Amino acid sequence: MQKTSKIYISGHRGLVGSHLLQKLKDQGYENIITKTRVELDLLNQAEVLKFFEKEKPDYVFLAAAKVGGIMANMTQQGAFLYENLQIQNNVIHSSYQTGVKKLLFLGSSCIYPRNCPQPMREEYLMTGDVEPTNYGYAIAKIAGLKMCQAYNEQYGTNYITVMPTNLYGPGDNFDPQGSHVLPALIRKFATAVKNGDKEIILWGTGTPKREFLHAKDLADACVFLLNSENVNKDTGLINIGVGADISILELANLIKEISGFQGNIVLDTSKPDGMMRKLLDVSKISNLGWKAKISIEEGIKDVYNWFIKTYKSNLFYL
Ligand SMILES: NC(=O)c1ccc[n+]([C@@H]2O[C@H](COP(=O)([O-])OP(=O)(O)OC[C@H]3O[C@@H](n4cnc5c(N)ncnc54)[C@H](OP(=O)(O)O)[C@@H]3O)[C@@H](O)[C@H]2O)c1
Repeated sequence: MQKTSKIYISGHRGLVGSHLLQKLKDQGYENIITKTRVELDLLNQAEVLKFFEKEKPDYVFLAAAKVGGIMANMTQQGAFLYENLQIQNNVIHSSYQTGVKKLLFLGSSCIYPRNCPQPMREEYLMTGDVEPTNYGYAIAKIAGLKMCQAYNEQYGTNYITVMPTNLYGPGDNFDPQGSHVLPALIRKFATAVKNGDKEIILWGTGTPKREFLHAKDLADACVFLLNSENVNKDTGLINIGVGADISILELANLIKEISGFQGNIVLDTSKPDGMMRKLLDVSKISNLGWKAKISIEEGIKDVYNWFIKTYKSNLFYL
């Protein structure tokens, strides 16, 4: 990408998109296009094509999607399937119709088979059934990455797909009903500190292990991959993670320390644990020359401080 190349970031107000936007600005890219959902509803095929025909972007980051935690996924399988299929169909097809040079599609580690061997290598995709609690999301994402592959084969486009692990960062979703585990714990500890609670309840046994990548690192990886001459339509899927995981109890203890919470963590073992491990094999991206830079301690401090600062000025604070 040249600093003057026209770059469209879809979903620029989301966790991934906002960090991509910041990364590109920091690196001096000066021709970035963004549109809010009100300005351009990506579900609307005609409007999306009109936008691409007018703007003719050189590069596209497809970071718009319907994303949510387990409850949202379980109760809205149809909406996750429909909206994600529609958004990616519209953006990928319009990119092809208007000659986009390179597109980066965001897949997810959640779409590997539920009983996938660990750590998960790129070639394990579609070797077993997806997790039933998010099958709508997973099937849509698989269709998206297969669409990129099929367009590359049939039309000679240059679309790449990345598979990020669990992400976190400033701007994440902290809604108690819809958030992922890390932001949910940050909110829980911050609330407990504020209220002077004696204990916080942690669901499950605390033993399942998870991998977490700061969204700033993800953005760095995406820009690196889009710029890399060694990465093209023939590279196949690329996992993006840190290559290491921690248990949920270790994570809770880390957030406890950062928050200064003095009480106890109580395990509610009547609640489900979910998959025991979900770790990405990151040898492919390492061999391409990229690795994550932000440690989990540093990353959580960053997000914890952001959360306190942001939510203090909010009437609905905790
Ligand atoms: N978060 C993770 O842990 C994670 C992990 C792996 C992969 N990913 C992938 O990364 C990508 C981005 O995820 P994220 O966490 O950044 O999600 P997010 O924070 O929910 O952001 C999604 C963005 O998409 C936009 N969007 C959704 N529907 C739209 C529509 N109909 N028209 C226009 N814009 C629309 C949203 O706009 P509004 O701001 O208007 O709502 C928002 O800006 C997704 O493809 C996701 O699958 C995320």
